[in-house]
Amino acid sequence: MGGINPYIAAPEITAATKPFSVVFQNLAEGLKQEVMIDPKKFLSSGSGLPGSLLDIAMALDIDIDHACGGVCACSTCHVVIKSGMPSCNESTDEEGDQLDKAPGVTPNSRLACQCVPDGTMNLIVDIPTWIRHRIREGN
Ligand code: FES
Repeated sequence: MGGINPYIAAPEITAATKPFSVVFQNLAEGLKQEVMIDPKKFLSSGSGLPGSLLDIAMALDIDIDHACGGVCACSTCHVVIKSGMPSCNESTDEEGDQLDKAPGVTPNSRLACQCVPDGTMNLIVDIPTWIRHRIREGN
């Protein structure tokens, strides 16, 4: 499914122009995977906004739940940005509305499908345990 919701305002995004890294992790479960993103070579997965954390994860076979297909209509792609938040686009009101429904929300929570890094910083991204359990149990 494509990653743009025609019923909400498009977020302002600055596309990355230089390489950066993203560490996807859930330390409680021993997951820590660093990926290097070169915007000139990156092949979008088609999930979430182009260049979003969900797009990056799915393109590189890292599981993040995304029940609505990445169109800001659920909260299953909730992640927590541990480092690199200043390089990400601003959260929209629609994203905030969906995050309000997610368990374990923190000030650094984002929807992976709506969070697009501009490539000026490396990122560390926590994938909450409840999402990991949903994936494993096939719910
Ligand atoms: S996948 Fe539904 S809001 Fe991100």
